[in-house]
Amino acid sequence: MSTGAPRVLPADSGIAEAASVLRTGGLVAFPTETVYGLGANALDARAAARIFEAKARPSFDPLITHLADTAELEKLVGVLRPAVAALAERFWPGPLTLIVDRPAAVPPIVTSGLDTMAVRVPDHEQARALIAAAGVPVAAPSANRFGQLSPTRAEHVVRGLGAAVDVVLDGGPTRCGIESTIVDARGGRPVVLRLGALPLEALEEAVGPVTVRPGSSGQPVAPGTLAAHYAPRTPLRLVSDAEPAAAGGGRRGFLAFRDRPAGTWAAVEVLSPAGDLTEAAARLFEALHELDGSGVDEILVEPVPEVGVGRAINDRLRRAAATWRPAS
Ligand code: TXA
Ligand code: MG
Repeated sequence: MSTGAPRVLPADSGIAEAASVLRTGGLVAFPTETVYGLGANALDARAAARIFEAKARPSFDPLITHLADTAELEKLVGVLRPAVAALAERFWPGPLTLIVDRPAAVPPIVTSGLDTMAVRVPDHEQARALIAAAGVPVAAPSANRFGQLSPTRAEHVVRGLGAAVDVVLDGGPTRCGIESTIVDARGGRPVVLRLGALPLEALEEAVGPVTVRPGSSGQPVAPGTLAAHYAPRTPLRLVSDAEPAAAGGGRRGFLAFRDRPAGTWAAVEVLSPAGDLTEAAARLFEALHELDGSGVDEILVEPVPEVGVGRAINDRLRRAAATWRPAS
């Protein structure tokens, strides 16, 4: 749907120009600490509509609104509920998305008609500078086509969205590499709607026990939690530790956590030779983009330890695999 290329600007010197594109209803892809976002003025329904069009995103999948600081959120929605305010205070700027009541100023298209809105303050200086310069809240989903791998580099955005986006701010590879954790803390025990870059352990240390909603059932509360999501174009299969990781026929790729697998592989990516989950998260989508582009027929993946950000990594891997092996 998009031919040609967007304008790619350096994330520091390009901010003023990108901010004016946002103010005039355009689309700007920008780096955050998690993944690249595809931004539009969240107060402009037509601009927000362009996000859905560029991503081929179903209109029932609401966007996350990004703000430069918590004070801007209070200006928009008024006084925050205590648990929401406490989480914002503790973790913003950072990879945590919170659910608040949708303010009247934000058109319903941004929240897909929900009376709630997802918001976060990114821990990325240039992202916040862009939002501040634009002077409006910025609605931004991940800057990939719907259901595909999230972008952790400007090149991923250019390749995936082309001229459907007006400007791409290039800030290099993103630090976390995996999307924000989404939490609904509006009442009672906080509910995690999507596992993400902020580990459960950190959340629980701050607010006590939380409930994790796997999102596996019926209604997509947070469609980033649709079973099939974050998928490469190449079929992907999770292998258990027990399964011998020797390559069969065909051209197969392997995504390993820390150790290179034995056997013959057409392509291998190791997430973290040091066995560090934070590093593994930062490299996850990049490694998948690499394997996806390497011409292999199938990608085999081993899960990482189910702890800290490892939970979010495994969550993304299971969803990527689900596209090719739908639950029977
Ligand atoms: O790290 C991130 O969160 C990145 C960067 C760009 O900030 N953004 C991101 O956006 O991952 P996206 O659109 O790919 O995922 C947003 C998720 C979707 O699963 C959506 O359903 C959920 O947020 N969401 C948005 N508004 C919601 C709401 N009011 N209630 C529940 N879930 C919501
Ligand atoms: Mg996404």
